[in-house]
Amino acid sequence: MKVIVKKTTEQMSREAAQIFADLIRQKPNCVLGLATGGTPVKMYQELIRMHKEEGLDFSKVITFNLDEYLGLPGDHDQSYRYFMNDNLFNHINIKKENTFVLNGTAKDPKLYCEGYEMLIKALGGIDIQLLGIGGNGHIAFNEPGSPENSRTRIVDLTKETIAANSDGRFFKDPKDVPTQALSMGVATIMEARKVVLIANKSSKADAIVKTVEGRVSVDVPASFLQKHKDSVVIVDEDAASKLSKTYA
Ligand code: PGA
Repeated sequence: MKVIVKKTTEQMSREAAQIFADLIRQKPNCVLGLATGGTPVKMYQELIRMHKEEGLDFSKVITFNLDEYLGLPGDHDQSYRYFMNDNLFNHINIKKENTFVLNGTAKDPKLYCEGYEMLIKALGGIDIQLLGIGGNGHIAFNEPGSPENSRTRIVDLTKETIAANSDGRFFKDPKDVPTQALSMGVATIMEARKVVLIANKSSKADAIVKTVEGRVSVDVPASFLQKHKDSVVIVDEDAASKLSKTYA
């Protein structure tokens, strides 16, 4: 696991955006795994800037998102489909039909999730998967206890996750947050050829030290990334504040 510590959130975001941009230039029809939440917003802004100012071309890029709230339609302003359109897709030249976000209103969610896994494979697998991390160590909505062999499925959200997503940034009231979601599994994420996890803020410092320096454990799903052959953790100084070793 490679760890990169940057002074600021802006630098963390630029570093991550550069990795994605390099791949897009090298392999224009690459398959990206994308994430939602507060953490990737500035990275997406940097990719939009690169598209507008440097001609970064998304016309052949395919994307798969990690997760979606169960029951929310894509036009709900808190759905992850809405988030992705609003924060990235509407501002770059990606074809919407090449962007896949799990459908929170699928009629048969179990079957639908199996189809999502098949589609990822059919389109060649994910070249780089972007991840945030929950304060409890979750990746996507793989909460503590999510097994290493888990696949895209229906999951229950923990109280911490519901609280973190209704602290005024996203939902206003915890009661409004769906209690379940569809989420790629740990095994789905581990199959990506490269994984980039980004984290900022001191609220992530505990989860980051456990992920990077702790033992691999189902209690901290992000720690499974220690076993990935090409995983990179990019953090700002606040998120890195509890690490005991020094990283570049
Ligand atoms: P955040 O969420 O980026 O909004 O902090 C990350 C996560 O829960 O994975």
